[in-house]
Amino acid sequence: MQKIIIASDHGGYNLKQTIISHLKSKNIDVEDYGCYSTESCDYPIYARLVAEEVMKSHVYGILVCGTGIGMSIAANKIKGIRASHCTDTFSAKMTRAHNNSNILCLGERITGVGLALDIVDTWLSTEFEGGRHQKRIDMI
Ligand code: RB5
Repeated sequence: MQKIIIASDHGGYNLKQTIISHLKSKNIDVEDYGCYSTESCDYPIYARLVAEEVMKSHVYGILVCGTGIGMSIAANKIKGIRASHCTDTFSAKMTRAHNNSNILCLGERITGVGLALDIVDTWLSTEFEGGRHQKRIDMI
């Protein structure tokens, strides 16, 4: 499994820390790009940091804010990013299989910890199917 990079704003800080512990317990290499406390900060800064690194280093990223929506809007402004805001495991599976999602966005104030970790595991373990889906991605 390749390295995962992760970031949050203050609204996603606690869920980010839980995801980091979860990934480490599975021996997955995870790098924390901030923020580093629950002090108020601006999610577009962290979305951009992770999105640019995903494009540069061809790794997967996870972004967490209060809803997951701000992070996904901001990350999707970076060319080549396919950031997917997921609140269920079916979407997490399909957005890897069909959209070749390279960033997963989660909302700490929306999705409980148990479901959020299932979404992370599903997203990380699902392969892109390619074929007709690659053609559609190339059209974006
Ligand atoms: C911060 O209060 C909140 O707006 C942010 O975490 C996120 O939910 C934005 O979409």
